[in-house]
Amino acid sequence: MPVLTTPRLRLEPLTDVHFDGLYRLNQDPVVMRYITGRPDTLVDTRSMIDRVKLRWAELGYSWWAFMRRDDDDLIGTGCIQHLNRDPAGPLETGWRLRQDAWGQGYASEAARHMVGWAFRTLQPELICAVCQPPNVASAAVMERLGMHYSGMGRWYDMDCKRYDITAAQWAESPAKARYQAEA
Ligand SMILES: CC(C)(COP(=O)(O)OP(=O)(O)OC[C@H]1O[C@@H](n2cnc3c(N)ncnc32)[C@H](O)[C@@H]1OP(=O)(O)O)[C@@H](O)C(=O)NCCC(=O)NCCS
Repeated sequence: MPVLTTPRLRLEPLTDVHFDGLYRLNQDPVVMRYITGRPDTLVDTRSMIDRVKLRWAELGYSWWAFMRRDDDDLIGTGCIQHLNRDPAGPLETGWRLRQDAWGQGYASEAARHMVGWAFRTLQPELICAVCQPPNVASAAVMERLGMHYSGMGRWYDMDCKRYDITAAQWAESPAKARYQAEA
């Protein structure tokens, strides 16, 4: 399973050892506001890890823990998965950070490495991301990746904005150049 190294983070495929850090992240109602709308219970975090472990085994991609290399602290998590968890759907990337890690560029740094890894390894035609319209911080991460708004839709039982980046757009994007310089 791929461990991705970025300048400040190590992205580790999520597994049981990440339970405490992931629960600390997911039990924050502010972090979960635009994701499930409520904080995780211990059972929610347990079932996320169980589901993700299966996906890694079946597909070879899923959610990573974002470990800060300085102090080995789990400060976030992010994914390459299928939109709406539909295996026939396009690949989607996503992210969340602990509040004390916001505003430092960690999500964008992790995102360009997840997407760079996915284009290189899985060779999809495009990768998308979705967020609720008021989630401007998440849309800004998508734009910094070089993604383009492609319309509204209903995913995960929520009305969401969708952003896409094609393989050709990624090839020309400043985020790819940065990813290659860092990888
Ligand atoms: C979405 C989320 C991950 C975005 O976090 P973020 O900190 O805004 O995004 P980044 O980590 O990419 O950081 C970018 C910011 O750090 C700043 N920054 C500071 N130091 C930086 C550095 N060394 N490198 C890059 N950017 C840096 C940037 O200027 C930018 O600030 P700005 O927003 O004021 O322009 C965060 O808001 C979050 O976890 N939200 C809750 C979960 C969620 O909703 N997830 C998405 C569901 S769709």
